[in-house]
Amino acid sequence: MLKNINPTQTTAWQALTAHFEQAQDFQLSELFAKDASRFETFSAAFGNDILLDYSKNLITEDTLAKLFDLAEQTELKTAIAAMFSGEKINRTEDRAVLHVALRNRSNTPVLVDGEDVMPHVNAVLAKMKQFSDRIISGDWKGYTGEAITDVVNIGIGGSDLGPYMVSEALAPYKTRLNLHFVSNVDGTHIAETLKGLNPATTLFLVASKTFTTQETMTNAHSARDWFLAEAQDQAHVAKHFAALSTNADAVSAFGIDTANMFEFWDWVGGRYSLWSAIGLSICLAVGYERFEELLAGAHAMDQHFAQAPLSENLPVILALIGLWYNNFFGAESEAILPYDQYMHRFAAYFQQGNMESNGKYVDRGGNPVDYQTGPIIWGEPGTNGQHAFYQLIHQGTKLIPCDFIAPAISHNQLGDHHPKLMANFFAQTEALAFGKTRAQVEAEFAAAGKTPEEAAELVPFKVFEGNRPTNSILVKQVTPYTLGALIAMYEHKIFTQGVIWNIYSFDQWGVELGKQLANQILPELADNAPVNSHDSSTNGLINTFKQWRQ
Ligand code: F6P
Repeated sequence: MLKNINPTQTTAWQALTAHFEQAQDFQLSELFAKDASRFETFSAAFGNDILLDYSKNLITEDTLAKLFDLAEQTELKTAIAAMFSGEKINRTEDRAVLHVALRNRSNTPVLVDGEDVMPHVNAVLAKMKQFSDRIISGDWKGYTGEAITDVVNIGIGGSDLGPYMVSEALAPYKTRLNLHFVSNVDGTHIAETLKGLNPATTLFLVASKTFTTQETMTNAHSARDWFLAEAQDQAHVAKHFAALSTNADAVSAFGIDTANMFEFWDWVGGRYSLWSAIGLSICLAVGYERFEELLAGAHAMDQHFAQAPLSENLPVILALIGLWYNNFFGAESEAILPYDQYMHRFAAYFQQGNMESNGKYVDRGGNPVDYQTGPIIWGEPGTNGQHAFYQLIHQGTKLIPCDFIAPAISHNQLGDHHPKLMANFFAQTEALAFGKTRAQVEAEFAAAGKTPEEAAELVPFKVFEGNRPTNSILVKQVTPYTLGALIAMYEHKIFTQGVIWNIYSFDQWGVELGKQLANQILPELADNAPVNSHDSSTNGLINTFKQWRQ
């Protein structure tokens, strides 16, 4: 069980509070001017695959030392050991947290309630390999004897975002199959997806940990209706539907043969499940071998997280820097900005990963916290973001720490596209850190032939204060291995912050109330009679909806 330790009551937190008095005036330009080896001091590598440069942050060695003290005093190392050893650290659901076991390529036993889970993990992986090999090779035939051409993953949240993000990020490794992802209960999503698909060559993966999620089950039923309208015979469902779930009873009740069920377990959190049977769509998208490489990359990062000293530990460093801005500088959000078009869903994926994990105001003692917890996560791929929201990051009034991520080697060596992309990647963090002074702006006006009087009015608008912090994460190339490592790095960052904030990161009770109320409202929409059982706003909205749809 994770201890109940209020981080603000530690001596490290008090030391950080005192340190912040000076730190709030740190200037990156001065920190760099004072220390020629700042990059060497504040960068860390993960093998030859990932370089984390965190030198453009408002920190000194003293800041970091105090942050590492905070991690020690909140017993981070004990918490890491507890997670890896299968302790039930998800206390409010009484579950272990073992996505690390799903990618435990070293196969060392991992015990849950005294039983080694690795034989179960390996058995499902073997089944995923066999199934995906058959579908990709065309050996698996649909009900008309034709090979499968299209795969539709039906899931939502963790049963959609992860496999979708990874399938997109690894698109250069695509098999011959066309992958589609349906998540929204809005009928438009499945209707548009099914347009142009042939039931005889389409495979549906119904991906749901619980197999009760309203959106997924509604879409799954519509998919089955669409399929049977053509195939006619219920017996054909077996060749076109598979289930990825922990709930065998609900899978059978839906009519999917449990031989086509790929199992996982309650110790896999939904938003940490792409490594489990939920990754079957990834196996189909890029082939099972690539999926194993993804697992291997994540496993290597797991070992790094579990074994590297805190001062060299990439997820820990990222977590502590994030916490420094969140809790001391008052930053409300963090942007994730991948300079890689294939990674266009990466920020959306970690929006769930981070916000569903650490969006909690109750601490591990059951009391409301009196400090900030999880940040708002957002982002889009560069350079698109540059032409959209970067203005506010450069000259707005809010502090937005950013992670810039880019591959050194592109999968598409097309003309000078990649050098141009990378020039922007390097330029942005430089501009954010060092800005442009009034003197520089005036000099530019002078060089353009303007008199000081002519320039004076415009100068204030063209000054960049700079001093805006960033991490740069340079990846050699986005391969299955490096992507696995990158994802695991962010997962462990989230874990580290949750431990220090003294919250439970692996439940998500905050999504329940909306689901309950929607279930109460749904029957009220069955007829056109006005409702008056809610507050006046909700009544007014429902009644207008009823009038307008008539
Ligand atoms: O609504 C939240 C949630 O429970 C997520 O945590 C989860 O990823 C998603 O719903 C989907 O759940 P399931 O896989 O059980 O359908």
